Amino acid sequence: MFIQLEIKKNIAWVTFNRPKALNAINIEMLNELDQTVDVIKENVKVQFVIFTGLGKAFIAGADISEMVNMDELEAKNYGRLGAAVFRKIELLDKVTIALINGYCLGGGNELAMACDFRIASDKAKFGQPEVTLGITPGFSGTSRLPRIVGVTKAKELLFTGKMIDANEALKIGLLTQVVSHDTLQETGFKFIESMDNNSFNALIHIKHAIDEGMEAPLEDAIELETIYFSRCFSHSNQSEAMKAFFEKRKPNYKEE
Ligand code: CAA
Repeated sequence: MFIQLEIKKNIAWVTFNRPKALNAINIEMLNELDQTVDVIKENVKVQFVIFTGLGKAFIAGADISEMVNMDELEAKNYGRLGAAVFRKIELLDKVTIALINGYCLGGGNELAMACDFRIASDKAKFGQPEVTLGITPGFSGTSRLPRIVGVTKAKELLFTGKMIDANEALKIGLLTQVVSHDTLQETGFKFIESMDNNSFNALIHIKHAIDEGMEAPLEDAIELETIYFSRCFSHSNQSEAMKAFFEKRKPNYKEE
């Protein structure tokens, strides 16, 4: 098994487990990831998902040994598979966090960018080295990187294929936080704690409003927010939270 899944309370931990190959993603691993994401999607108890890697890499990219002899059609199918799995992660009605423990390259960075948040160890290294292999990114790196860090920085990273350290990645807006390597896991839990007392319904409505709104013209994005805002009023979390405000107490949510 290249993917480990552990569900504890409302958190799903997904661990990439191919450390000898620096967790390079091969087709088998992509298929396992796809099935794992389906399991998470169907589990209504899961609200937060953490992706992390075993060993010294988060993921060092797509498996070059599988790509070396691919023809155009095989590459198209491979690209479509990876892109679809990562899109499924992006569209999850869960809060997703990449806890980046080491090398986060190519397909690894593309997976991390499909998550809501990226928290990295100070040992992590980032890059899109595809150009050095004579290819473009295949799992949506050219789409998401400029949306996250801006076109100029994205082109610099994609055209040079260079690696940057975690502090540089934080500076360009790729990361939420950089922490010392030993505290990565603890930071992930604390980050979840900082959201866990909030209405999960509101969190997911905010996620939809941002993700869909960012892809829409401003007028449509504003209308989308109105729709998600108003939908919150048909959920018990809204009345409970506002009642709690006036009763000067913390809300007590019972998720339905
Ligand atoms: N694919 C296949 N195998 C990989 C791999 C990858 N992406 N990355 C590392 N490995 C393997 C190495 O071949 C090596 O295997 P052996 O022990 O059998 O020789 C093992 O993992 C350990 O790697 P290194 O000995 O190279 O470790 P290092 O510490 O010296 O270097 C590294 C680390 C700088 C990350 C280096 O391994 C490297 O450059 N890896 C490739 C990174 C890369 O180019 N990623 C992009 C892939 S293309 C892609 O992702 C396309 C896409 O968008 C879909």
